[in-house]
Amino acid sequence: MTHTLPSMPTSRQPGCPFDPPKELIDAREHSPISHFTFPDGHQGWVVTGFDLTRQILADPRFSSRRELMKHHPTIDYGDIEVPPAPPGEFLLMDEPQHGRYRKPLVGRFTVRRMRLLTERVEQITAEHLDAMEKAGPAVDLVTAFAKPIPAVVICELLGVPYEDRGRFQENIDKFLGGEVGDEELMAAYLATQEYLAELVAAKRATPTDDVLSDLLDTDLTDEELKGMALILLSAGFDTTANMIALGTFALLRNPEQLAALRADPALAEQAVEELLRYLSVAKQFFRVALEDVELGGHTITAGTTVILSLSTANRDPDRYTDPHALDLHRQEGGHLAFSHGIHQCLGQQLARVELRVALPALLSRFPTLRLAVPADQVPLRPEAADIHGIKSLPVTWED
Ligand code: HEM
Repeated sequence: MTHTLPSMPTSRQPGCPFDPPKELIDAREHSPISHFTFPDGHQGWVVTGFDLTRQILADPRFSSRRELMKHHPTIDYGDIEVPPAPPGEFLLMDEPQHGRYRKPLVGRFTVRRMRLLTERVEQITAEHLDAMEKAGPAVDLVTAFAKPIPAVVICELLGVPYEDRGRFQENIDKFLGGEVGDEELMAAYLATQEYLAELVAAKRATPTDDVLSDLLDTDLTDEELKGMALILLSAGFDTTANMIALGTFALLRNPEQLAALRADPALAEQAVEELLRYLSVAKQFFRVALEDVELGGHTITAGTTVILSLSTANRDPDRYTDPHALDLHRQEGGHLAFSHGIHQCLGQQLARVELRVALPALLSRFPTLRLAVPADQVPLRPEAADIHGIKSLPVTWED
């Protein structure tokens, strides 16, 4: 019998900031794929099983094209026509358009290139730890540490002057944070586009040594470069910032795991992978079937929207032993936190470098780091946010 998810959960269980909503975990208990009626009446699916999610992500019969994303799990779009993604915004495109934009970037984000950045990431991290030490004890880790480190790194990589961050950081928060209405969201998106158009024009006039300037030699238009910059900038820091903040919170809530990491810095790589799986901040994505597809004993008909819950797939008991435990020594490798298939995160090696540097450095600089408020008072982003996270993380330490 087909399992049905009655509605899309709009919040997490109180006291469980790291777990996917209970309704999705329960759905996975019944079946890796559940039927779901969208608010506009569209008959779609929610996929919560690891293997099935991975299979769909690798299947070109499922599309990421924005103009096909007509249905939203909590909003009824009514008659609004969703336009195709603007030039360069390749996250929301299929091949061959997607590859035209992704290919020139791949070489810039390889493991080797990102490892070369490690020293700079260490410097940036140390500077922020120094500033925290001066400002504290008691700081908000989100504003003092988690946000600025990935913001400085992505700005330097793209050649965005860090002083300009006021022109995009708040706006990106608005379109990923799930807390503003449609009008404000659109205004934030347009303001970021406007800023990036100016930036591309400035690079054209005076190229510098960065990813954006390197792309000036290709046949990509300024309009396309603007779109690519938007994807890189928006994907590049909010995700990592929330991983640093939530990762610290999760470790502080799991003192045995925290102690294991402090005792063995060589555990950092494995610890970061487990935190990525456990927290899955990029929690869900959508795909639309381009033709009828037989999957998991069901027919997904052409035009149907499928919600892929990466966060629930990463807690699949068929894939992981004790999936809801944070276990830095976990033996099962691999996760879907960076997705899979052609859209698999382009910046994953960069994110890994940042997390492997920032988390251990924070723990070693502040051996007595602890929450400055009760855990249930740490304000979560609403479940409507595209990226899961926390708004602030008050921490303190012994001086
Ligand atoms: C821990 C941090 C991060 C997480 C959890 C994350 C997660 C993801 C996920 C799940 C996707 C795939 C979406 C899909 O399948 O539709 C993605 C795509 C992408 N990410 Fe990340 N990301 C992170 C950091 C970064 C960073 C630092 C960059 C820096 C450039 C970046 C750039 C991108 C880009 C450009 C794409 C689009 C790839 C494509 O469509 O081909 N991400 N990311």
